[in-house]
Amino acid sequence: MLELGVIFGSRAAEHDVSVISGLQILENADKSKYHSFPIYISRTGEWFIGEPLRDIKTYRNFNPDQKGLTRVFLPAEPGHNGLYTFGSGLFGKMQKAAALDCAILAMHGMHGEDGTLQGLFELADIPYSSCGLVGSAVGMDKIVMKAVFKSMGLPTLPSIYCYRAEWQKEPETVIERAEKELGYPLFVKPANLGSSIGIGKATDREKLRQAIEVAASFDRRILIERAVEKPIEINCACLGFEGEIIPSLCEQPAGWDEFLSFEDKYTRGGGKGMKSLARQVPAPISEEMTSRIRGYTADIFGMLECKGVVRVDYILEGDTVYVNEINTIPGSFAFYLYEPMGLPFSALIDKLVQYARRGLEQKRESSFAYSSEILNKAISGAKIIKK
Ligand SMILES: Nc1ncnc2c1ncn2[C@@H]1O[C@H](COP(=O)(O)OP(=O)(O)O)[C@@H](O)[C@H]1O
Ligand SMILES: [Mg+2]
Repeated sequence: MLELGVIFGSRAAEHDVSVISGLQILENADKSKYHSFPIYISRTGEWFIGEPLRDIKTYRNFNPDQKGLTRVFLPAEPGHNGLYTFGSGLFGKMQKAAALDCAILAMHGMHGEDGTLQGLFELADIPYSSCGLVGSAVGMDKIVMKAVFKSMGLPTLPSIYCYRAEWQKEPETVIERAEKELGYPLFVKPANLGSSIGIGKATDREKLRQAIEVAASFDRRILIERAVEKPIEINCACLGFEGEIIPSLCEQPAGWDEFLSFEDKYTRGGGKGMKSLARQVPAPISEEMTSRIRGYTADIFGMLECKGVVRVDYILEGDTVYVNEINTIPGSFAFYLYEPMGLPFSALIDKLVQYARRGLEQKRESSFAYSSEILNKAISGAKIIKK
């Protein structure tokens, strides 16, 4: 039986959404194939395992001292394949608390979707379900992400960016650039947050000032983008790993008057997760547009070296489509876009596990051994100049 750890929570604004995605995986993973168990990273960053973590009520007022919880860590070196308790006392040894063959990362936002956790799993040589470091990090940074999309020749909305320091020093210059290069209405976004946090729309100079202030309180880099009036949003997921790339159906999420606020996005339908949101699947758009969007999604999946399941979000302005962003760990793993294609959630989880394991196999096929003479030369006193 494969020991399948499902990790969620963490120091992120999307902590609660992540708990829901994690519990969904635990509920839907095939019990005949996996012993799946929760690994919870608290809001302060500590890791726990234990049966109470299967109950959503545990998270309302999380108590780290609750009976049944064990505080653990994942050693950042290969070969341990498990979670360990910290040794206590001077000569206390770490003890294996749970075996871990593969991890499903049900993380949204910082400290989980952004490459940080992926890095730890790379160091530990444990298969994990999401994109690697590059894709995860690029997918989290709206400014770099856009630069990559543009370099691929994909349509993106015109934008500029600035640093918080620049804004604090010369706000007028930033405002002038935004007005001259883009014009109102504008969207202002912190570079590294998701779930609409810190995002604002500005229709005039005063609102722009306020929106940048808000964004700058969340991040040191800020993206300012031309806003589309009455946008139609279309999302398309993509599943796979090297050679196997399966774009999903397209969805049109519920229309919002202004734009999706954090509250709207996750609490509509009584907080039951993304599935309860009103959406249209497949999206009511032309076949031509659908295939164009699926094509873009597959291209992005390849360029960002994706693994597992991601979701790319688009904005339509009339007949024109713009790539808005990629979510490398989408809400509910976008299972609802694959279910109608004949792939139930449990089969989607099987695929995530397969790709995770294949990812590690592929890595092992690359050679890390390269013997150089540098140390010998240095020891014998030769001068080494790095080219
Ligand atoms: N340039 C834009 N024009 C119109 N609406 C936008 C624009 N950018 C974002 N939005 C709206 O704001 C929402 C959140 O923005 P997004 O870039 O997707 O950030 P997040 O990472 O928070 O989801 C989008 O789903 C869309 O409704
Ligand atoms: Mg979005």
